[in-house]
Amino acid sequence: MRRILLSLAVVAALVTVPSSAQAAGTGPCDIYASGGTPCVAAHSTTRALYGAFSGSLYQVRRASDNATTNVGVLAAGGAANAATQDTFCAGTSCVITVIYDQSGRGNHLTQAPPGGFNGPASGGYDNLADANAAPVTVGGHRAYGVLVAPGTGYRNNSTNGIATGDAAEGMYAIFDGTRYNGGCCFDYGNAETNSRDNGNGTMEALYFGNSKGWGYGAGNGPWVMADLENGLFSGVNAGYNANDPTISHRFLTATLKGGPNLWSIRGGNAQSGSLSTFYSGVRPNVSGYNPMKKEGAIILGIGGDNSVSAQGTFYEGVLTSGYPTDATENSVQANITAAAYATTTTASPFVAGKAVSLRATTGCCVTRYITHSGTTVNTTAITASSSATDKANASFYVRAGLANSSCVSFESRNTAGSYLRHYNYQLVLNANDSTSVFASDATFCPSAGKNGQGFSLASSNYSTRFIRHYNNAVYIASNGGTNAYDSATLWSDDVSWAVQGAWTP
Ligand code: AHR
Ligand code: AHR
Repeated sequence: MRRILLSLAVVAALVTVPSSAQAAGTGPCDIYASGGTPCVAAHSTTRALYGAFSGSLYQVRRASDNATTNVGVLAAGGAANAATQDTFCAGTSCVITVIYDQSGRGNHLTQAPPGGFNGPASGGYDNLADANAAPVTVGGHRAYGVLVAPGTGYRNNSTNGIATGDAAEGMYAIFDGTRYNGGCCFDYGNAETNSRDNGNGTMEALYFGNSKGWGYGAGNGPWVMADLENGLFSGVNAGYNANDPTISHRFLTATLKGGPNLWSIRGGNAQSGSLSTFYSGVRPNVSGYNPMKKEGAIILGIGGDNSVSAQGTFYEGVLTSGYPTDATENSVQANITAAAYATTTTASPFVAGKAVSLRATTGCCVTRYITHSGTTVNTTAITASSSATDKANASFYVRAGLANSSCVSFESRNTAGSYLRHYNYQLVLNANDSTSVFASDATFCPSAGKNGQGFSLASSNYSTRFIRHYNNAVYIASNGGTNAYDSATLWSDDVSWAVQGAWTP
């Protein structure tokens, strides 16, 4: 269970430390190699996937000056050195720019390019993941997963050693089984090398989510399925297959493997127990999927044609050469449970007296921050090269809530005595007139972000309304209602704000 501790005092991160140590000396890829089906790509931002791996796991880029740094491991075969990221990203925000391939084949994942669909970033590229958005512990060590918000995606269209055609391969990934949606398509695996839909059988990737647009399984989802292009498959039939269960472990192991007229999907709890087989048998009874026409690109968080509507969270995953045995996968699952993934509570960023900037998390708008210009409040794109005035306009001191000290108020960094408040349900920056209505209008109560990222800020006097951006203006909005800015579309994204160290500290 994730819980956000909200306090105006500095709250130390409370970390659950499991007793189990890292399974030193053996990683999932050592197990696949012993089974004769070696990893040809191995990706993780949380830990080494080979017992001997001591290189960089991933690269982050910070907003303050666009500098990058690599995050390595604490020890060979061990967990990520999260302190590298924490130090480098202190007082600013960071995105994950590269997820390195640990297999030595150079199959790194970087910002996905446009394909059949454009992403929301410049040039039609997909967004990069916020490096701080998916904190966990692994073996008691803090680490960060890859939080894929809609619009986010990683890819490598020029790989080495990944299966093509009908050649056999295997793969597994660890996802957050509680974070998904029905959009297309939160995938990890083998896809087209031109980012386009090249027809049935041109991809073979793990899918996780509750899309019923193609296949689905028992219950309401989410399900582990195989994205084979123009179809998510839960078994031999298009559409429904009863043996693919709804599965939503907080840490979820999912496996997929495919070879000549044979494939299988399996899954289980990444914190304990074994894998169950959801399908194992011949290729789907739909034309175009036997033999397969795999192309060997690698995707994370998107569909083969760069469909970018899905969300999910990725911690680690690999692709293998050859069809792993169930026994090999079972040993990998044992290694995963021994690695001891756990949730971590987050220290509150709402520390009285600290200056913060509030960044939008909706896919369109992840570079936009709440800013004022005089009394007008909007969201504005702020970058390292923005003017000092723009940066200060996007910076606010956290104050104890004027109407309720267990909530917060935001005082302008460069207009002392003026606060963000709503008026006619729109945010403005006004001088505190010491009335009780001003105090209430300027008080907001934080809770975990409605879309799983950052925080949502409820109005203290209209408690079903949350600070929301809409057409780049800022309101207190309800989830559905008569005003355009109450639109239910994108509401949970629009009301979720990443709280960062201020552009002007
Ligand atoms: O197969 C499902 C999706 O269909 C693929 O991911 C995408 O390429 C296509 O839109
Ligand atoms: O924003 C809604 C209300 O509009 C505020 O509480 C009040 O100040 C104004 O009338």
